Amino acid sequence: MTDIAARAAELRDQLNFHIYRYHVLGDPVITDAEYDLLYRELQQIEAEHPELITPDSPTQRAGSDLSEDFPKVRHPAPILSLSNAFSEDDLRAWEERNLRLLPAGTKLDYTLEPKLDGLTIVITYENGVLTQAATRGNGELGDDVTANVRTIRNLPLRIPVNRDGPHPPEKLVVRGEVMFLKKDFEKVNRKQDELGLPRYVNARNTASGTLKQKDSRITASRPLTCYVYGVVQAVGAKWDKQWDILNALRDFGFPVAPGVGYYPTLSDIIQQLPTWESRRIQLDFEIDGVVIKVNDLRLADELGFVGKDPRGAIAYKFPSEEMTTKLLDVVVTVGRTGKVTPGAKLEPVFLGGVTVSNASLHNFDQVAKLDIRIGDTVIVKRSGEVIPYVVGPVLGMRDGAERPIVPPEYCPYSGDRFVQPEGMVDLFCPNPQCPERLYRSIEFFVSRGALDIEGMGPQTVKTLMEKGFIRDEADIFYLQREPLLELEGFADKKVDNLLASIEAAKHRPLAQFLTSLGIDGVGGVVATLLANHFGSIDALMNASVEEIDAIEGIGPVLAQSVVDYFADPYRRRVLDKMRAAGVNMQAEQKAAASNKLAGLAFVLTGTLPNLSREQATELIEAHGGKVTGSVSKKTSYVLMGDSPGSKADKARQLGVPIIDEMAFRMMIEDGSNPPSPGQPPLL
Ligand code: IVH
Repeated sequence: MTDIAARAAELRDQLNFHIYRYHVLGDPVITDAEYDLLYRELQQIEAEHPELITPDSPTQRAGSDLSEDFPKVRHPAPILSLSNAFSEDDLRAWEERNLRLLPAGTKLDYTLEPKLDGLTIVITYENGVLTQAATRGNGELGDDVTANVRTIRNLPLRIPVNRDGPHPPEKLVVRGEVMFLKKDFEKVNRKQDELGLPRYVNARNTASGTLKQKDSRITASRPLTCYVYGVVQAVGAKWDKQWDILNALRDFGFPVAPGVGYYPTLSDIIQQLPTWESRRIQLDFEIDGVVIKVNDLRLADELGFVGKDPRGAIAYKFPSEEMTTKLLDVVVTVGRTGKVTPGAKLEPVFLGGVTVSNASLHNFDQVAKLDIRIGDTVIVKRSGEVIPYVVGPVLGMRDGAERPIVPPEYCPYSGDRFVQPEGMVDLFCPNPQCPERLYRSIEFFVSRGALDIEGMGPQTVKTLMEKGFIRDEADIFYLQREPLLELEGFADKKVDNLLASIEAAKHRPLAQFLTSLGIDGVGGVVATLLANHFGSIDALMNASVEEIDAIEGIGPVLAQSVVDYFADPYRRRVLDKMRAAGVNMQAEQKAAASNKLAGLAFVLTGTLPNLSREQATELIEAHGGKVTGSVSKKTSYVLMGDSPGSKADKARQLGVPIIDEMAFRMMIEDGSNPPSPGQPPLL
């Protein structure tokens, strides 16, 4: 057997094993993305060596989700699937292959649609009335779920929805996707909470279960949504372009997913991809990519199929956010509040566009609950900007050599015994002078989201602490030029720059200074509320819990945490020392419009539709953000307009989100927040 044949056989075996784990046991040992990778590799080998295709190859299997519970419906045309692209190169190769199959000189234009992460539904309208709805099934036969689909509130039971809308064709069979909007899925889970039932983890599976309820009252009680994107059959109507179909569907009153667009070239499409990727988490619905379709339906038809995938459309899948890898070790970090966080050392894995070798394990309580062990194969997830975290172990991959994770008893930095406060899941180092806690709070104090002292990265902080130059935050403002110059690697220019940024940091707005203190629970938003209300550190320092609690947006726990902070004599000494060094502790006159962009750095590129460069800069600054000239890993967002320069490419390279004016306005106007570190879902 040749190497290639052997590899194909191996892939077949692996894929069949994973299909069994997934569909029969309901206990997959790899993620969907990993499955995709294997599947794709096999598909590619088979495309190049068709003689290696065997009848048991998973590529020859037409997927089916038929169930015994429903009558069957024959679809008027096969319900096809899509092949996948994972990169710009894949898309270009797709277009080149297509162009080779079409007459010389053909130009292709495209539609771009979100790839909704739900279930295919095929719905029939006769003379404008919904008469039947079926699942995809095996592509030829589907389950008749008409009663359930009728409960989907955004789907018209009769078209056109508007009386003066277009005349309905005699028969119209449309294809769409059924799913839960994110907020509706959360609602369903909140109901589970109330009933004391376990939460649903996977929205797509839950939507599938909901759609296939035998009792349609159960379906009706759960808020499913449907978006329609295609026509399977039309009697008495004909469209030549996919873009016309999308518009016609909308004119009939069908729900069409927001964000669908027409683009004259593949390059235009490719330009949109980063925006979609970065906007993905702001959308109301889950998408796992975008679908690119040849607009000219006659050409699409001419292109034909590969297996069950039409050549005229392709799914561009976003980099996976979930992968499995080996847990090599667990390290313990102590944060500035003393909180102990177990961190996973992982076998490096490519995840969401970057290589990940560290992930959070949250706390030892969670580690114990999930029974995560060293040596386990674990699922790692990363969504948006959030630090990757370990979802849980893949129990099916254990070989017995795994070792339990034992929480440490003593702080490795201060030697103090860890404590676990009543009712809390976290362990804490109780010593405020713990060198690691000090280091972490100083590191935070100078960081970008806090006082933002340029030239004072974690390494510099470490050096200055080790050399005894700083023992607390206030010492930073007493650093002298001459002694610094004695330090290795601290040349004239570096020292001058550092001292200049420290000088500048003395004059930060009160809210920013307050944020930098790292008081438990006091981030940018709360700091702004406090600064606006009290106007100075002095006033805040002498405030009571009741006074603070009375501020709209602040609760008693937070108020207590603020009071505790300022009651600590050590904190007061440090603050006095800073005041003596000339650090601003007063609110300035002109308050920011909001703090929504606090800590975010923007780079502008291209021409925005409604804002000049100056206006955009002003807006960003008024909302607490800042604008810098060039893209780096520290850039939070690239705000992209028409004809963007190389900055957009650089941003994509570095994994910096790219937003357009609409997404940017969403951030400051609708209160829809940019991706921010959040808690992972409870398991
Ligand atoms: S077109 C031949 N358009 O993705 C046309 N599919 O991975 C094939 N999907 O089975 C489908 N959004 O369930 C199309 N805008 C969209 C879609 C979409 C989601 C789903 C659909 C399909 C799967 C293929």
